[in-house]
Amino acid sequence: MKARIALLPGDGIGPEVIVQARRVLEAVASRHGHGFEFAEARIGGVAIEHDDSPLPAATLELCRACDAVLLGAVGDPRWSSPDAPMRPEQGLLSLRKALAVYANLRPVRGLPALAELSPLRPERVSGVDLMFVRELTGGMYFGPKERTTNAASDLCLYTVPEIERTVRVAARIARTRRRTLVSIDKANVLETSRLWRATTTRVMKDEFPDVAIEHLLVDAAAMHLLSRPADFDVLVTENLFGDILTDEASMLVGSLGMLPSASLGDARPGLYEPVHGSAPDIAGRGIANPYGAILSAAMLLRHSLELLREAHAVEAAVATAIAGGVLTADLRAEGAASTEEAGSAVIDSLVR
Ligand code: IPM
Ligand code: MN
Repeated sequence: MKARIALLPGDGIGPEVIVQARRVLEAVASRHGHGFEFAEARIGGVAIEHDDSPLPAATLELCRACDAVLLGAVGDPRWSSPDAPMRPEQGLLSLRKALAVYANLRPVRGLPALAELSPLRPERVSGVDLMFVRELTGGMYFGPKERTTNAASDLCLYTVPEIERTVRVAARIARTRRRTLVSIDKANVLETSRLWRATTTRVMKDEFPDVAIEHLLVDAAAMHLLSRPADFDVLVTENLFGDILTDEASMLVGSLGMLPSASLGDARPGLYEPVHGSAPDIAGRGIANPYGAILSAAMLLRHSLELLREAHAVEAAVATAIAGGVLTADLRAEGAASTEEAGSAVIDSLVR
């Protein structure tokens, strides 16, 4: 098949991990006879620097003309002071909103070869296979914000349709897995959470009677994710809770560098990005972990191009590379592999 893929490398280690993800996609294309066309554009700090905007119009236009978007990371300490007029992160948030990718899928799957890396005991993380569905275009991230000299506010706003569509995505995924869904909120305190819980309860009862639903408060969920992670399967939650809980959950697999994500809406294109940030402290040294970006490319193959075999092949190749001991510095202290070596190991495992 033919497909156009927009690459937005962004800031920090973003460009380094995107180079490897692209190499893997090119290898998949040549091995399986597909024609992938790539086009690059700027977002984040690098776009503020060159285009005076964290999301230049040309970047958004390119994304809209493509079948899928693969993004590296945004964030740059040069534009992160509390009083910065423009922030790299605004570019990413505007892109998510403009593409209306409201459902953010963040799988967290433990790999046996990495079990020792988790701060939790190996027997506790064994069998962990979670799918978070994080609402991505609503809540406190996007509500009206105010700042005066003495005070500031971020309004958390959710509408029923915003909750319904996110819960439906999660419930459909649950149907293909263990048919259980955990919804996470703070309904004992927040009005938006009470709306979330009431809406979730109704959608599940009316439309997904075959999927068991359980509600957890976010503070308890944060604890249960560490005490009994293997008990969970699909989890759905609002934007800010999902941001926090997925960073926490990354420690179940040992490194944030391993986690991919897919952000989907009702129309194309989907947006794919590793969960990690721009890691300015290690940028430019060729030591970043590209597996999260490569696994995001696998999600792109699956969800935007419907190339399920190819997606699976990439995921299997990452597992093979890791099982073969090709571990970047976040995964191993001594004798670590470089970003490029990790990318090459995936490609070698692919063609074998
Ligand atoms: C993420 C990131 C972003 C978020 C930032 C960079 C705006 O932390 O994708 O998890 O908070 O959503
Ligand atoms: Mn985050």
